[in-house]
Amino acid sequence: MATPQLGGFILKAYAGRKSKNGYTVEPFRQDRYRGAMQKWDVIVLGAGAAGMMCAAEAGRRGRRVLVVDHARSPGEKIRISGGGRCNFTNKSIAPERFLSSNPRFALSALSRFTPADFIARVDRAGIAWHEKVLGQLFCDGSATQIVRMLTESMRDAGVELKLATVVRKVRHDDDFELDTDQGALRSDRLVVACGGKSIPKIGATGFGYQIAQEFGVPVVETRPGLVPLTFAEQDLAAWKHLAGVSVTARVGHGKTGFREGLLFTHRGLSGPSILQISSYWRDGDMLQVDLADGSDVAAALKAARALNGRQSLAKALARLVPEKLAGTILDQMKLSGNLADQGNAVLDKVGTAVNGWLVRPVGSEGYRTAEVTLGGVDTRALDARTLEARTVPGLHFIGEVVDVTGWLGGYNFQWAWSSGWAAGQAV
Ligand code: FDA
Repeated sequence: MATPQLGGFILKAYAGRKSKNGYTVEPFRQDRYRGAMQKWDVIVLGAGAAGMMCAAEAGRRGRRVLVVDHARSPGEKIRISGGGRCNFTNKSIAPERFLSSNPRFALSALSRFTPADFIARVDRAGIAWHEKVLGQLFCDGSATQIVRMLTESMRDAGVELKLATVVRKVRHDDDFELDTDQGALRSDRLVVACGGKSIPKIGATGFGYQIAQEFGVPVVETRPGLVPLTFAEQDLAAWKHLAGVSVTARVGHGKTGFREGLLFTHRGLSGPSILQISSYWRDGDMLQVDLADGSDVAAALKAARALNGRQSLAKALARLVPEKLAGTILDQMKLSGNLADQGNAVLDKVGTAVNGWLVRPVGSEGYRTAEVTLGGVDTRALDARTLEARTVPGLHFIGEVVDVTGWLGGYNFQWAWSSGWAAGQAV
């Protein structure tokens, strides 16, 4: 057990200070720890969305809670989320909007702490919000308001926050013991809220999966989700000059489909419809894309030909999809001339190329840009009500580290709030 320098450290590092996210820590009484064992009822590893929610709930119940994070500020992903406005929940939560080996696992937490519960907190904090599309709720102002709301609720609940602290090892005897670069920390219960592997640049590590494995808790294979997809070199040559062109598209993979924006990029495809389908896509799979958002291109071209056969095919197609995209498709099909020159079979082929584009991405942009990590701590090893590991009493996993991944649109934060809240009632 390391010498108890924690009180001194916290005093020096945080007393009376404000981090950039607004967390202020009451001055701690140094003698509280002097000579005493550094032990809390609960340590939460990770000051992200799930960890802060859990810590505040547990603190409110009178538990002595410490949150530890290696980052310098809490809630960094919240801060950059939703283009800086945080899409903090979605009004239409349903199990089929979550990917997991067992999508029903998430229901327990999601039905006990609902979007309405989180919205009520946002309202109480005086944070203005709006619905954008598809039930997605965003702050009117900055996402840092949500971070501040969470840090203030932790402060009000007496939660201690220890940032810039690297955890090297987690052990378990009678207690949990964290070996950190600031000394050892002990607790009765440990909540792992380290998030996934996406965006390592802002502190994602995958450490939570490592802890699970070290404690013999199974982990479902992880992979990037909600991520742009990339083309093979030869496809890139044909499409990359369209970088920046966007359409409303219907993108399908097997029985799953999304109708949202699609964006051509220098590497392949992005935009909400592609991010959504990327969570279902596997290496080697084909995607079916309707670039004209369901309007029957062949029928529209035939109708245009009947009206004015002297109109160019390129012009007619450019009424249905962006001009640059229309030109590219026709170049690839080696088609030109007026509508009157095209037989039905040709217009049907153009229709198929636009309404039923079959594309086989070769990969994704990976964790560098992925919004989430699919897979994670196996839900079969966790109690759905408490998020506690069945084989390791006192060890809980919440948020993205668990094998529960939502669609784009506020679902992932709702899972973080709900799972954090549920564990917060149990620890
Ligand atoms: P989260 O990642 O929030 O927190 C984990 C914490 O653990 C971090 O503070 C990290 O520093 C800390 N940590 C990691 N490793 C550690 C270690 N080894 N030691 C100590 N601390 C460690 N979702 C949504 O619903 N709406 C949205 O608008 C967006 N937008 C969005 C944009 C971008 C760019 C990204 C990358 C992601 C989103 N998301 C989103 C997803 C959402 O951010 C994500 O699902 C939640 O933040 C997950 O919450 P967690 O608390 O589980 O992890």
